[in-house]
Amino acid sequence: MDQLLQQIEQYKQEISSVVPDGAEALEAYRIRFLGTKGIVKGLFAEMKNVPGDQKKEFGQVLNDFKQLAEGKYEDWKNSLGGAATGKSAAIDLSLPGDALPLGTHHPITLVRDQIVHIFGRLGFSVAEGPEIEDDWHNFTALNLPENHPARDMQDTFYINQNPDWLLRTHTSSVQARTMEKQKPPIRIICPGRVYRNETISARAHCFFHQTEGLYVDENVSFADLKQTLYFFVQELFGKDVKIRFRPSYFPFTEPSAEMDINCRICGGSGCAVCKHTGWVEILGSGMVHPKMLDNFGIDSNKYTGFAFGMGIERICQLKYRINDLRLYSQNDVRFLKQFTGAV
Ligand code: DAH
Repeated sequence: MDQLLQQIEQYKQEISSVVPDGAEALEAYRIRFLGTKGIVKGLFAEMKNVPGDQKKEFGQVLNDFKQLAEGKYEDWKNSLGGAATGKSAAIDLSLPGDALPLGTHHPITLVRDQIVHIFGRLGFSVAEGPEIEDDWHNFTALNLPENHPARDMQDTFYINQNPDWLLRTHTSSVQARTMEKQKPPIRIICPGRVYRNETISARAHCFFHQTEGLYVDENVSFADLKQTLYFFVQELFGKDVKIRFRPSYFPFTEPSAEMDINCRICGGSGCAVCKHTGWVEILGSGMVHPKMLDNFGIDSNKYTGFAFGMGIERICQLKYRINDLRLYSQNDVRFLKQFTGAV
């Protein structure tokens, strides 16, 4: 036993005097002390020869020694950068680096950027607002007072903490926020995420994206609205695109209209997307209701404006033939990587 303790003492000195060197020396050290036929294992094997009453003491010394040997190994390995251990530890600096997998833009981002770009050329700047809205900006200021039937179409999620807070149902809330702090001329485009309390399916989701547009100035007419939107779809879908306006109702515009384009999927001959009509609705629009302007202290006798709102997913569906809304948020790379380089 004394002889063994003496030996351990020598090994300890050896370990503390070893100066860490390259990976090869580290491996030699590991084999010598910690390998399956190494010193530590060998000493543990000696345990059976130690008299019973000394086993405990010897065991303790041995464990300390093992920890010392392993600690040295870990420190040494870390000082080499971890990876540089083992037989093929040498670093070849001439090797090319590991290629980073390149991501792609999400199709919603691609289309949003195109929309922003097209309107940017017409002098519209981007305005943003919060996704957690209050009742006033999302509904009441837009001429949708409590108990107004048009609220039924936009059920949403409410925040328990405050019954006045909700997840915005449309980007029209940004119109309200802009008119609150800015006076005409106003020319903004407001892309963003919106929420609705809907059961998720291929055609509906509890969140999606919209882009709102608002133009308020003197002498803005319905003809300006039509021409602006016609220019927009021509830029986005090509010169051959056809449009039509259908009368509609929105509480914040008067008159209101929905705009359809000829179906990009079937070219107008009729398919499931256009429900065999040849036309697909892409946006709601209208002349800003005078009451809206008055709500924000903008003189409705002097100023007029037009507004519109469109779903980005729908535009994307027509542009890239995407037939299921759920694909946008499933994060399936097989879907996402198809848009590499797409514009
Ligand atoms: N906010 C409407 C919706 O989500 C879309 C819309 C329609 C926006 C007409 C407008 C507009 O600005 O003028 O259904």
